[in-house]
Amino acid sequence: MIERLGTVDSTQRVARERACAGVPGGYAVVADAQTAGRGRLGREWVSPPGEDLYLSIVLRPPLPARSSPLLTLHAAARLAERLDLQVKWPNDLVHEGRKVGGLLAEMEADGERVRWVVLGLGVNVNRREFPPSLPAATSLALARGRVLHREEVLETVLDALRPLGDLSALPTLDAWRARSATLGSSVRVGQVEGIATAVRDEDGALCVGGTWVVAGEIG
Ligand code: BTN
Repeated sequence: MIERLGTVDSTQRVARERACAGVPGGYAVVADAQTAGRGRLGREWVSPPGEDLYLSIVLRPPLPARSSPLLTLHAAARLAERLDLQVKWPNDLVHEGRKVGGLLAEMEADGERVRWVVLGLGVNVNRREFPPSLPAATSLALARGRVLHREEVLETVLDALRPLGDLSALPTLDAWRARSATLGSSVRVGQVEGIATAVRDEDGALCVGGTWVVAGEIG
């Protein structure tokens, strides 16, 4: 089921409430615009109306709670395949190094098992201009040279994400590796700098110049 909203503070907030209220896995909340869209690391996700996609989906995978951070890397890889993009560690969607979209995951556990995961996804679909605060952003429309139908992108995205809710074990990250814009490039994550040489199946950690980095963001 898809719950469609006009302007909302954040689809993530709404989807979390729905998850707590017991909606089934696969339930998606989509908005035309957000007034308080949230990105990773407490950042704002600028969410103007009419052009882009703002979505949060409730998943209830029968997975151990400790695997839930990995779910976003798998989600990013599936989306990159379907949208013909690349992934930037850990879960940004990029085209030629510029950010097209990003994922945010929030989880509640029931003991050692996942009770729900809410995966939030923002995709720049048709936007052509970005504020100076987002110099490295682009959109699907700019990447492909044509306007896209948001509804078709939404269908593609839901097709890619919903099966994640059925996984009782996570596969290797080979699909992520195949779409990676990060492996082989020179990166800095916090204080760690070097060539990114590997990503670890167990926890999604990135090997930077020989040091495993479990969380963070490429600067
Ligand atoms: C990132 O920082 O790259 C993740 C961005 C996630 C933004 C999406 S837009 C839909 C959903 N609602 C939110 O408030 N955030 C996520």
